[in-house]
Amino acid sequence: MNAGPLVLGIESSCDETAVALVRGDRSIVAQRIASQDEAHRPFGGVVPELAARAHAERLTPMVAEVLDAAGIGLAEIDAVAATAGPGLIGGVMIGLVTGKALAFAANKPLIAVNHLEGHALSPRLADAGLQFPYLLLLVSGGHCQLLGVEGVGRYRRLATTIDDAIGEAFDKSAKVLGLGFPGGPALERAALTGNPRRFPLPRPLMGSAEPHFSFAGLKSAVLRAHAAMSAPTAQDIADLAAAFQQAACDCLVDRTARAIAAFPSATALVVAGGVASNMAIRGALSALAGRHGLPFSAPPPWLCTDNGAMIAWAGAERLALGLIDGMDAPARPRWPLDPGAEAVRGAGVKA
Ligand code: KG4
Ligand code: ZN
Repeated sequence: MNAGPLVLGIESSCDETAVALVRGDRSIVAQRIASQDEAHRPFGGVVPELAARAHAERLTPMVAEVLDAAGIGLAEIDAVAATAGPGLIGGVMIGLVTGKALAFAANKPLIAVNHLEGHALSPRLADAGLQFPYLLLLVSGGHCQLLGVEGVGRYRRLATTIDDAIGEAFDKSAKVLGLGFPGGPALERAALTGNPRRFPLPRPLMGSAEPHFSFAGLKSAVLRAHAAMSAPTAQDIADLAAAFQQAACDCLVDRTARAIAAFPSATALVVAGGVASNMAIRGALSALAGRHGLPFSAPPPWLCTDNGAMIAWAGAERLALGLIDGMDAPARPRWPLDPGAEAVRGAGVKA
């Protein structure tokens, strides 16, 4: 049986250094993911310079480890896929140049992958039955978008954030609450024992005719509610974390319901990106899909946060269509999936 091409994937756009070997038949042959949490924790956020240095140290040995684990040599891979943006440019450059060098040495095609496309197609790596078109909620540290995914390379942006990304709002709220770094998973854990109804927090743009998201006001409300308590207890923190998470869920569900109406050809509701590993968010979206009679698909949590397998898989999908790149492929700090999408009001809009 032909298992399809074997693609080496490289991811280095933020604070995970990751490498994977994935086949066209969706088998993950080998992979490694190294988080840089220890390096960034003292600063309470990702420091781009430290991230780039860590990628430079870790990436090449990690490629060797993955090839060793698979028991193959470079000559046996069929293509190299590397994230070429958007992201922290130092890390993107290190990953892309490493990918180019490997492709050149092995004389195999290079695929310069958009990190967002990696997230957008990752559900198809986990779910062989997931067909185009689908409605995708892409929620990560730098993005919060609703996309009509019509095919590989064919994305229609239906909504985006007019200020903060959702992951950023989780991370900053976690920091205010003293929950540590990385903030998203810490806030989810704290929320487990909290009462989401104790603090009335705003739900920006909920019910609005505008299709977009906004999280800055919610984040500021967490800051104000926290500052109003002189000596918050662990229960106070848990209640505020639960209130934030519930408000964020309500906003995501409301905006996604609107997008379901705007994209009636969708065959499924899909969520991807780091924040999609949040169980409360998955549950709320699954229920929404059920109310609309749509199948719901979410990759396993490890495939939601940054990893090499999603980049290798996006590479395999592009390779199957002959979409390969030249050695002059640029590293891009910003790279929208839908370049034709209208600009939105507000500042700080990513990619
Ligand atoms: O996709 P990702 O790994 O990197 C980017 O492309 O940004 O997403 C990282 C984001 C961070 O903001 C992180 O706090 C958030 O995903 N995140 C979570 C959870 N796990 C990761 N947010 C909420 N709940 C989680 N369990
Ligand atoms: Zn990501």
